[in-house]
Amino acid sequence: MRLFIMKLGGSAISDKSRPLSYREDWVRNLGNLLATSIKAGDKFVLIHGGGSFAHPMALAYGLSRYRDYDQLTGVSFTSAILHYLSMKLTITLASMGLPIYPLRTGSVYVINDGKPQLLIEPIHIMELLERGVIPMLYGDVVLSDEGFSIISGDDIMLDLGLRLRPTASIFLTDVPGILDANGNVIKELTRTSIISERFTRHIDVTGGLIKKIQSAVELAKYTRTYLCAIWDLGSINRILNNEEPINCTRFLPY
Ligand SMILES: Nc1ncnc2c1ncn2[C@@H]1O[C@H](COP(=O)(O)OP(=O)(O)OP(=O)(O)O)[C@@H](O)[C@H]1O
Ligand SMILES: [Mg+2]
Repeated sequence: MRLFIMKLGGSAISDKSRPLSYREDWVRNLGNLLATSIKAGDKFVLIHGGGSFAHPMALAYGLSRYRDYDQLTGVSFTSAILHYLSMKLTITLASMGLPIYPLRTGSVYVINDGKPQLLIEPIHIMELLERGVIPMLYGDVVLSDEGFSIISGDDIMLDLGLRLRPTASIFLTDVPGILDANGNVIKELTRTSIISERFTRHIDVTGGLIKKIQSAVELAKYTRTYLCAIWDLGSINRILNNEEPINCTRFLPY
């Protein structure tokens, strides 16, 4: 069985500069590619990000650090908006014939000591795959030893990658790879090159990107790991066919 874990980043499924903007066209185009691959016998676990649905809400309630009771309605609203985005994706993809099986992340993960902890046995996910559905999780607000914390879709990629050992893992965003200071795609990224990339203009403006790269490099110890644009169907198709993509960044574990 060929298993792929794919993260539909918030930047891939929404325009992060416009609240509640859903990129249905890009999602549908990817859905077509997934449908072809599934017909050929491939299996997928999908994870999606919060994009312009969840980030503004989480920010408004300061949910990156849980302190007091007043934030609990923020937990509700953020959970609701993520659930809503997950339902939008489920409906788009299922109406194209893709049997998505959405799992609410907050019901199956907690965070302990800053690390995601899966509450269900990984065999449960394997059983869903055997039944022919496509399990889909997402970055979410989850119970943690500090109260509540946000588990990012990138963290889930790493955790499920370790447990399920897929053929390849693909992070999808709205850009064709990790970009250097000149805007060119870095074809291969290792731990050493992270340090040299750290101070580039692009990475400075998004603190989150360094963490994404660290998760991806760690994940690369266990599975072929790439970051591509959701719209670069040619490159994604090559990865699914065990070829190197034309664009995209490949992460290397050394
Ligand atoms: N040097 C860079 N290389 C690649 N992307 C960069 C770089 N600097 C900034 N970015 C931005 O980082 C974004 C991807 O990271 P971000 O965390 O915002 O998205 P995501 O993970 O898809 O969303 P979410 O966190 O909602 O799932 C891209 O939209 C891109 O514009
Ligand atoms: Mg992100």
